[in-house]
Amino acid sequence: MITEILSPKQTGNHNLKNYEEQYNSYEWDQAEQQFSWHTTGLVNMAYEAIDRHADLGKGSNVALYYSDQNRKENYTFQEMKEFSNKAGNVLRNIGVGKGDRVFIFMPRTPELYFVLLGAIKLGAIVGPLFEAFMEGAVKDRLEDSSAKVIITTPDLIGRVPVDELPDLQKIVLVGSSVEEDAQTVDFYRHFETATTTLEIEWVDREDGMILHYTSGSTGKPKGVLHVHNAMVQHYETAKWVLDLKENDIYWCTADPGWVTGTSYGVFAPWLVGVSNVIRGGRFSPDDWYQTIEDHQVTVWYSAPTAFRMLMGAGNDVFNNYNLSSLRHVLSVGEPLNPEVVRWGMEVMKLRIHDTWWMTETGAQLICNYPSMEIKPGSMGKPIPGVEAAIVDDKGNKLPPNRMGNLAIKKGWPSMMRAIWNRPEKYESYFLSGDWYVSGDSAYMDEDGYFWFQGRVDDVIMTAGERVGPFEIESKLVEHPAVAEAGVIGKPDPVRGEIIKAFISLRDGYAPSEELQEEIRSFVKKGLAAHAAPREMEFKDSLPKTRSGKIMRRVLKAWELDLPTGDLSTMED
Ligand code: PRX
Repeated sequence: MITEILSPKQTGNHNLKNYEEQYNSYEWDQAEQQFSWHTTGLVNMAYEAIDRHADLGKGSNVALYYSDQNRKENYTFQEMKEFSNKAGNVLRNIGVGKGDRVFIFMPRTPELYFVLLGAIKLGAIVGPLFEAFMEGAVKDRLEDSSAKVIITTPDLIGRVPVDELPDLQKIVLVGSSVEEDAQTVDFYRHFETATTTLEIEWVDREDGMILHYTSGSTGKPKGVLHVHNAMVQHYETAKWVLDLKENDIYWCTADPGWVTGTSYGVFAPWLVGVSNVIRGGRFSPDDWYQTIEDHQVTVWYSAPTAFRMLMGAGNDVFNNYNLSSLRHVLSVGEPLNPEVVRWGMEVMKLRIHDTWWMTETGAQLICNYPSMEIKPGSMGKPIPGVEAAIVDDKGNKLPPNRMGNLAIKKGWPSMMRAIWNRPEKYESYFLSGDWYVSGDSAYMDEDGYFWFQGRVDDVIMTAGERVGPFEIESKLVEHPAVAEAGVIGKPDPVRGEIIKAFISLRDGYAPSEELQEEIRSFVKKGLAAHAAPREMEFKDSLPKTRSGKIMRRVLKAWELDLPTGDLSTMED
């Protein structure tokens, strides 16, 4: 049992001052007073995120600090309101209306945010696609959702199989020298002349807003539908978890092709009216540190893989920059190894706050808060208004320290409302109608902290012992030679499964028998003999999703010589 504890932060806004008290008394309708449906019965996320601030006298505050290799631009809330109105008018003029599926397939630029907000203002359902998607992945998503419009660039249009998508009516190209035809629309030509006022489509809070495709362990990616009502939870978690107040400068490193990049890269920060930093282009340690320094970022939301890469780049790189503006740092998407938390304490002198949630949950659910003690390696505790539990396969709650299914009591505001076209798949997430079953295994300790153990199908049973691969991976990456590690259960006639580790080494280390033995005994010593990988294989790099998760199922498929399945979410 890990006993390490990091005490609450002394600085910050502490919007959530006393977790226990707030948790025991909170009801979601306390937040609902904030939004327009409280008085009119109708609402629109883009209005609440952008126009509301402009209309309430905050129009000259900076909403967006954008930069990439070539561009450096700032936009105020008033400008964001006007530019998203213009984009909305361009889309309305080509027939986009409420409920239409509009896909956005382009690199992170200010225009992406104008069209995303503009489409939402029309009541359309936006499908954001990551720019690295290739043709098959694009086609699956547009086909499944009968997309009416795609907004893309001349560089990417070659990956949209237009002729194979009979429902696709319009292609909006964001780029220079676009030739228009019956189907193709030159975005800038119409954007320039579009008016800055737009009649917003006021919708019901339960109307569809965004469709994120995500892959499960089998089959094609599924379309997870979120509705405008999610704003309640985005708004509250922006305060409780991101700890934001209006004068903060916030940077979420995720791309809007993934749920973190919309829920926490667009909606949450803007609902509370902070300045949002968007950095285009690819990851590089220097570039990222520079971004924090340039914009004086105060709150930073990123992912374990990024932190590990920064860690791997070394403290010398870190020391070249002044990151003293940082106040609050958060992580999501995969297990946050205690090792990374320790690195954060060492170099940034800050705790990295783990947060747990999923595409399907729409917003954060289990988190570490500034005002709370952190146990490194734990995902934290459920947000106020949310009941989380560990349940068995029948939906019975398990006592503390028992590993089981991580489940959430149905009914939190940002919960997905459908799997597009697949009602039976949607229903399959819920046990006895009441519990949403995440597919993650975890346990809750006696203090109510949740500990991630792996995806349910990744849990390893070896010689009667239940072992979570994450625990082993975490230990492995603590070894100085190990850059990244992925662990799977390999079928074994005697032990049920044995543990096999795939490892990529840090620069300066070469694979050898001695090194294997050393790593094995390191895990044995650090964790337990039964947790030490019996087999090890060194690889130059490991298969990962775009959001940085090591794809154990691909490792498993390699190992067992099976088909790897859908790879559309795998990084290059
Ligand atoms: O397995 C959990 C892992 O990521 C899954 C959800 O992935 P996705 O839908 O891509 O959403 C990622 C960002 C919201 C979960 O089922 N996961 C997410 N956060 C954590 C995590 N695993 C461990 N610790 C976390 N904090």
